[in-house]
Amino acid sequence: MSGGRVVPRVVMVTGAARGIGAATVRALVARGDRVVAVDGCGGPPLAARGDLDAVVAAGGDQVLGHVADVRDRSALDAAVDLAVARWGRLDAAVAAAAVIAGGRPLWETPEADLDLLWDVDVKGVWNTAAAAVPAMLGGPDPAGCRFVGIASAAGSHGLHHLAAYNAAKHAVVGLVKGLAADLVGTGVTACAVSPGSTRTPMLDATAALYDLPGVDGFAESQLVRRILDPAEVAAAVAFCCSAEGAVVNGSVVHADGGFAP
Ligand SMILES: NC(=O)c1ccc[n+]([C@@H]2O[C@H](COP(=O)([O-])OP(=O)(O)OC[C@H]3O[C@@H](n4cnc5c(N)ncnc54)[C@H](O)[C@@H]3O)[C@@H](O)[C@H]2O)c1
Repeated sequence: MSGGRVVPRVVMVTGAARGIGAATVRALVARGDRVVAVDGCGGPPLAARGDLDAVVAAGGDQVLGHVADVRDRSALDAAVDLAVARWGRLDAAVAAAAVIAGGRPLWETPEADLDLLWDVDVKGVWNTAAAAVPAMLGGPDPAGCRFVGIASAAGSHGLHHLAAYNAAKHAVVGLVKGLAADLVGTGVTACAVSPGSTRTPMLDATAALYDLPGVDGFAESQLVRRILDPAEVAAAVAFCCSAEGAVVNGSVVHADGGFAP
């Protein structure tokens, strides 16, 4: 509230052009937040510029788009600057951008796969936090500020033929735990959300890594016995981005329908 007026929350979301990131933008917009939607838009296997433009258009004047590779810290600094210039604050950041690689046992996995996953899936989250947290600490309401890293069931289990992705997602969990410890006393909090198999282009890519004809078989690994919708995961992420989300700090929300490999 400001002088009796409700001040909208301002959130940065990476990986926002499609999948869970895009669903998170929609969930935040629906409750009145303002969003800077960031994506690399590099074309396959990444989303296209048109995907990001569609997310921005659907959000009306509540969403600004920003093309940035999460490996580029200065490009993320610019996204934060955009939020602060347009809306005067940054209340939360969601690091959803990631890629997947694998399909072979660890000892046959090219080092390039590990390098890619480390650079995008781990350092991308690191860069997002490093860009966002100073704006939160220096903003009008640090106690209302949240950082949310998107990890995975692969962040707490060993998934077959995905050793490099497992390593990267375990690192995301460690990163948010360390960040939460660094933020003690500031009011800013940090957590991870670990989705299960969710109907997005990344799940299609995962099925292809296993030479599966489609994604439906992954439902067997979830107690709900179905593939999750991105909106279901986004609802959990949106809660973690809220002022009330401070209750989840230095820990992981398992938004996976009950993972049961
Ligand atoms: N879909 C699932 O089943 C599932 C399960 C567990 C965890 N996750 C995690 O959820 C998050 C979202 O995944 P998704 O399924 O929506 O994937 P997705 O591939 O549909 O979307 C990922 C988005 O990230 C963007 N991106 C990729 N590399 C980028 C980079 N270097 N810089 C900026 N943007 C980049 C892509 O363009 C794309 O828009 C990821 O962290 C993923 O690891 C997904």
